[in-house]
Amino acid sequence: MARHSLLVGFGGFLPDRVVTNVELASQLDTSDEWIRARTGIACRHVAGPHDTATSMGAEAASRALSYAGLSASDIDVILVATATPDQAFPATAVRIQAEIGMISGFGYDISSACSGFVFALATADSLIRSHQANRVLVIGSEVYSRILDWSDRGTCVLFGDGAGAVILEASESDDHRGILSTHLHSDGRLRDLLYVDGAVGQPEKSGKLRMSGRDVFRHAVEKLSSSVDEVLSSCGLTRDHIDWLVPHQANIRIIEAVAKKLALPADRVVITVDRHANTSAASIPLALDEAVRDGRIRQGELVLMEALGGGLTWGTALARL
Ligand code: UT7
Repeated sequence: MARHSLLVGFGGFLPDRVVTNVELASQLDTSDEWIRARTGIACRHVAGPHDTATSMGAEAASRALSYAGLSASDIDVILVATATPDQAFPATAVRIQAEIGMISGFGYDISSACSGFVFALATADSLIRSHQANRVLVIGSEVYSRILDWSDRGTCVLFGDGAGAVILEASESDDHRGILSTHLHSDGRLRDLLYVDGAVGQPEKSGKLRMSGRDVFRHAVEKLSSSVDEVLSSCGLTRDHIDWLVPHQANIRIIEAVAKKLALPADRVVITVDRHANTSAASIPLALDEAVRDGRIRQGELVLMEALGGGLTWGTALARL
């Protein structure tokens, strides 16, 4: 079989502090009922003063390394998907590289907002297929609590902090496992539907997340549904072949719409949005980590990952574990 990428390590990290909807409703004109009904979210983890994209990403990376029985010196490349880096530069990837004691290879960040993990996974797979790397650590790490407008009930109830990591490893075995296909899209004409207002290049602005929720919702259902068709037909597979949907965790209603399109029962969909809320680029690797470690997803099963986020960006990845 041609050179391809196996998923061999999984790790996740969530900050200690858990904020419930009830706690938010004590500070904001919202309610537990509204948040649960419209989003499926019950609570979220929020970073403490010392948690950063680097510290959380490094912890998730260390857990993925230990899952795989590898050390930092076995890794050639670190890719970090984040919209909330510690600094504009150096990249969070090189900070994590130093943090985990990796002194060779290279690392860089990928900025595709909530789709970042899928974009990073596709890039990692390409680096492996083109013989530029044998093992790639792919991390999604986000502290959206620092870019939320905590007075905007339309956005601040939706997000949480955390990090997830996977390790891809080159293989030439004939096992039909690993990343089978990835498909990436962006449409910059839709950039104003979900964005951060300012930051490094425009310091006079707020640096806070802004979203036209209803429009993003509509695009998410439409674009993710057609992306599912695209990835399946590219592999000559049908929806009956899918064992698991591991979606980006933005809203339970978006997840259910995609699951319905795939005719997948609820127990074949990995859900964390109820407990993690939307952790942006961290949500898919956190969900994967949970479902692999608790034994739900098993070796040989076919997993569909999909995400949509600011850009707009969206993408899918199909992998046999
Ligand atoms: O990961 C990146 C991608 N992001 C997403 O995919 C998010 C996509 N969007 C969504 O998930 C949903 O659009 C939201 C959860 C953000 C909003 O749900 P919705 O069903 O689209 O509600 P809406 O924006 O249409 O608002 C309905 C009402 C409004 O009141 P009026 O104008 O009908 O009187 C809002 O002001 O709900 C109100 N509202 C709230 N009420 C209580 C908005 N936020 C809240 C809130 N608590 N937190």
